Amino acid sequence: MKAIIYTKYGPPDVVQLSDIEKPVPKDNEVLIKIHASTVNRTDCGFRSAEYFIVRFFAGLVYPKNKILGNEFAGQIEAVGKNVNTFKPGDKVFGYDDKKFGAHAAYKVMGAEDCITTIPANVTYEEAAPITEGAHYALCDIRAAKITKGQNILINGATGAIGSAAVQLVKNLGATVTAVCDTKNVDLVKSLGADKVIDYKKEDFTQLKESFDVVFDAVGKSSFGKCKPILKKGGIYM
Ligand SMILES: NC(=O)c1ccc[n+]([C@@H]2O[C@H](COP(=O)([O-])OP(=O)(O)OC[C@H]3O[C@@H](n4cnc5c(N)ncnc54)[C@H](OP(=O)(O)O)[C@@H]3O)[C@@H](O)[C@H]2O)c1
Repeated sequence: MKAIIYTKYGPPDVVQLSDIEKPVPKDNEVLIKIHASTVNRTDCGFRSAEYFIVRFFAGLVYPKNKILGNEFAGQIEAVGKNVNTFKPGDKVFGYDDKKFGAHAAYKVMGAEDCITTIPANVTYEEAAPITEGAHYALCDIRAAKITKGQNILINGATGAIGSAAVQLVKNLGATVTAVCDTKNVDLVKSLGADKVIDYKKEDFTQLKESFDVVFDAVGKSSFGKCKPILKKGGIYM
């Protein structure tokens, strides 16, 4: 099968188009024919290993996994003998930051891992890029134990993480105040935000309201500046 592989860390030209053997799913795995993937920050970080710490995960001297690509959407081609949650033909999407492998014609994935079916009204190209930002947003929302009825402020509400956070927090039944640029006010409203602050016109840290959680998804503020708008015992992320 065709795959984009890299065998050493470096600039973008270390990745090359190659022909390699098609993977075979183990008993608990599925084989996915990849229709869409992304080249995201994590791929670039694992490709360049610019930050040395990456090598503790990716391989100290050479990359362990030769194929990048952690976000994917595609169709199940085959399933292992113990898999009964998916069947050939299912349209699926998911996220794999352990083994990567989505920059290839086919990828195997544990059926219990981060993979599920695509809603009928969503295309492969729309599904693949949803996964990483939403994964980080959900981890943070769970860590802060955000619940129904809380008052939450999200800064960077139009980013990959922030736009997912707005929708997930709203879905939990909390009240969302989202902060973004003027041009994105309507977009953020359409994601379900109860109130939108345009940071070009207003400094959210000067609001008179107080919040259970201030989730700064882009790290443009600080705990010190946000403390006055946090409730007693409130969380700054
Ligand atoms: N996405 C991931 O999976 C991932 C993984 C690891 C780390 N990170 C880190 O997490 C942070 C957020 O990532 P992301 O992927 O969500 O970012 P992103 O998709 O690049 O979006 C960043 C957002 O920040 C907003 N922004 C820029 N300046 C701002 C300001 N002064 N105040 C408020 N908002 C501002 C922009 O929205 P406006 O146009 O509305 O200003 C933009 O939509 C980044 O630091 C990134 O490096 C992300």
